Amino acid sequence: MSSTLTDRAWLTDPIECGSAAGFGLYLHVPFCHHRCGYCDFATAAVGEERPEAQGALFDRYLAALVSDLRRQVAAGPAAHAPAGALDADPAWPTVTSVFVGGGTPTLLGGHRLSALLAAVREVLDVAPDAEVTVECNPETASPELFGDLVGAGVDRISMGAQSFAPHVLTTLERGHSPERPLAAVAEARAAGVDAINLDLIYGTPGETTEDWRRTLATVLAAEVDHVSAYALTIHDNTPFGRAVRTGRLPDVDEDVQRERFDLARQLLGAGGFEHYEVSNLARGPARRSRHNLLYWRHGDYLAVGVGAHGHLAGRRWWTTRSTTAYLDVVEAGRSPIAGSEVLTDDERAAERLLLGLRVREGLHPRDVPPLEPLALEDALDARLVETACGRLRCTDDGWFLLDEAVARLR
Ligand SMILES: C[S@@+](CC[C@H](N)C(=O)[O-])C[C@H]1O[C@@H](n2cnc3c(N)ncnc32)[C@H](O)[C@@H]1O
Ligand code: SF4
Repeated sequence: MSSTLTDRAWLTDPIECGSAAGFGLYLHVPFCHHRCGYCDFATAAVGEERPEAQGALFDRYLAALVSDLRRQVAAGPAAHAPAGALDADPAWPTVTSVFVGGGTPTLLGGHRLSALLAAVREVLDVAPDAEVTVECNPETASPELFGDLVGAGVDRISMGAQSFAPHVLTTLERGHSPERPLAAVAEARAAGVDAINLDLIYGTPGETTEDWRRTLATVLAAEVDHVSAYALTIHDNTPFGRAVRTGRLPDVDEDVQRERFDLARQLLGAGGFEHYEVSNLARGPARRSRHNLLYWRHGDYLAVGVGAHGHLAGRRWWTTRSTTAYLDVVEAGRSPIAGSEVLTDDERAAERLLLGLRVREGLHPRDVPPLEPLALEDALDARLVETACGRLRCTDDGWFLLDEAVARLR
């Protein structure tokens, strides 16, 4: 590796990481029609509300998002960065990716999302070729929605299909048929959406290998550009967590999940997908998620909305997970930030490795933090990492034992 123990070039003058990775904006929309039993994202179920009450809530939230964004932008980068980390009064970098995530952002409808993106372009310099992604639930999709989104500059849709097996969708408490995501993909394509991702979940209790095989075959036939395939995680604080604790739902089986993961790699790989990150596959480098790559490359991003996390020059911050608290605080002109931390160089080094090694080709030699030669040798000997063209990357086994790989390297 080119770094030495005193060399800070990996932080101050990186080739692909940190500020070289671009600059992102994450906007969180917390509403969902129903809260799926496995989900622990910051969401609030609004399906029981009357349509007028929903509309009023969505208008209120949109106004709060825009005012929170304006307040953060007006305060400047120095307000988020650690003291002394930036020049006296730096300008905001050009935005290279925008991600509107949730929750179910598409519940807001095309007009509100267009107004939100217009406000973003008003206050920040968004690169003409910036990737602009909106997360979309299949049951909220329509040709009109996609038409509005394309008109607002959205070029990427990330849709939660999860599975194409009806009984798995029932277990996951999804509100759509197996066919609906496919129709929505066709609607998005017809409206001119450039890139489409499908989110999948594997290893759900009751899912068989055949269910998963058929799900993957359906994904291949859908001709999408990108797939995010996640092993079902049972979070303690969710209805699924409680159901597992009380024996009403079998726990996930890690061996089965590893098999399902291998099957996804094999079948999607044969169908033209490149497995470029632990949970992500794309039809070639141009179809990778630029916004997520920014996270894995240890980049900087602003965060706006309920339960949103931002990062700038080694300081991380996060906002309240309560929609009510968020609305009240922002409407009173105050900051919704609930906490923050400044990472030491050592913590940033560990994070750089943990995130960077998630990507198939790993880290550019110049972006690798200082490593003790013996620690590197140990991780190489354990076949958790390897070097290729000077880059440090995980082996296939290391990809599954990332924490151990990083622990050995540190
Ligand atoms: C933030 S969610 C929003 C997506 C969108 N609301 C939907 O459900 O269609 C993004 C993705 O995270 C994944 N996800 C959420 N909770 C999960 C869990 N407990 N285990 C595995 N994947 C999960 C799902 O694939 C989901 O589509
Ligand atoms: S719809 Fe998506 S964000 Fe909402 S609860 Fe379900 S998985 Fe979570």
